[in-house]
Amino acid sequence: MADTTFGPKGWTPDHLSSLAGKTYVITGGNAGAGFQASRILLSKGAKVVMLNRSAEKSIIAVNALKEEFGPQTDVSYVRMDLSDLASVRAAADDVLKTVPQIDALICNAAIAQVPTQKLTVDGFESQLGTNHYGHFVLCGMLFDRIEASKGRIVVVASLGYNMGIKTIQFDDINWDKNYSANPVYSQSKLAQMMFAYELQDRLKGTGKDVQVYVCHPGASATSLISTSGGLMTRITWWLMSKTPMVQTAQKGAFPEVMCATEDGLEPRALYGPTGMMQTGGPVGKGTLNPHAYDKTTMKKLWRVSEEATGFHWTF
Ligand SMILES: NC(=O)c1ccc[n+]([C@@H]2O[C@H](COP(=O)([O-])OP(=O)(O)OC[C@H]3O[C@@H](n4cnc5c(N)ncnc54)[C@H](OP(=O)(O)O)[C@@H]3O)[C@@H](O)[C@H]2O)c1
Repeated sequence: MADTTFGPKGWTPDHLSSLAGKTYVITGGNAGAGFQASRILLSKGAKVVMLNRSAEKSIIAVNALKEEFGPQTDVSYVRMDLSDLASVRAAADDVLKTVPQIDALICNAAIAQVPTQKLTVDGFESQLGTNHYGHFVLCGMLFDRIEASKGRIVVVASLGYNMGIKTIQFDDINWDKNYSANPVYSQSKLAQMMFAYELQDRLKGTGKDVQVYVCHPGASATSLISTSGGLMTRITWWLMSKTPMVQTAQKGAFPEVMCATEDGLEPRALYGPTGMMQTGGPVGKGTLNPHAYDKTTMKKLWRVSEEATGFHWTF
């Protein structure tokens, strides 16, 4: 049944009051849903720090936002390539030096549908390495600052978690034997969700005041497929994006802004559009299938992620 918590239109930025004094750190803020989320947060007076891989695109994004909201707008970027753990660690160190408060870290950046197997500089399959391992280390390094701010972590997932093998292929996690763009993207987004739900479990009983929420943007017209997808996927997506099946990037940003700001959300949930097939429509609590929080797999993934990245959480 559709979630009516936020009324028939679902959650929209009309639910936001002033965000003056709040600081949001967002990965991939220079394009797509991340750029639109930054816009919405800035429009309410928040400070936004983007963690972006391209300096050139970041300068363009920051200039566009200052042009829209005025030169005093508190928006900046730190260069960070999620596919390179040294870059993630350096960016996190920079944030810890320069950003005293983090009300929410929004894990938004991703690559998708990479047509052939590519490895990151650390030797990880590129989608798992960028989407999951990069954010795993970033969240870990910024956790104490988020906790000190009584802040949140928002993981931007995908309905793709329902596709592919619906688990983690631990015996060949890089898919050396059977690489295929879509199932491997699905695995990476499922991994991000499992990280979030396992983190929720680990936080229980620690007294640490950090909320962790998971959302997805439905099907939104962003640069995701054109940046990293293969030719056929790009053509199919381009055609789809001309139909009402695909909503705007701005609407795609609503769930992540909601999860970064709204009180009273449920932890073990997946927030996003609740219309037909949950790819568009009013934003609220959608369907969450239990394979996303299979405890044995979540625990094993956490262990494997610590071993792979060399980053060890202290709880
Ligand atoms: N659009 C959809 O229909 C859809 C559906 C399901 C889930 N999602 C999820 O929504 C989120 C936002 O994606 P989007 O659709 O807005 O895509 P997008 O327009 O391509 O934006 C993705 C952002 O991630 C950044 N990024 C990519 N690789 C990176 C790296 N190695 N290090 C740092 N940043 C990196 C991109 O930077 P560059 O500008 O440098 O490329 C860009 O800013 C993603 O988590 C995606 O999985 C999207």
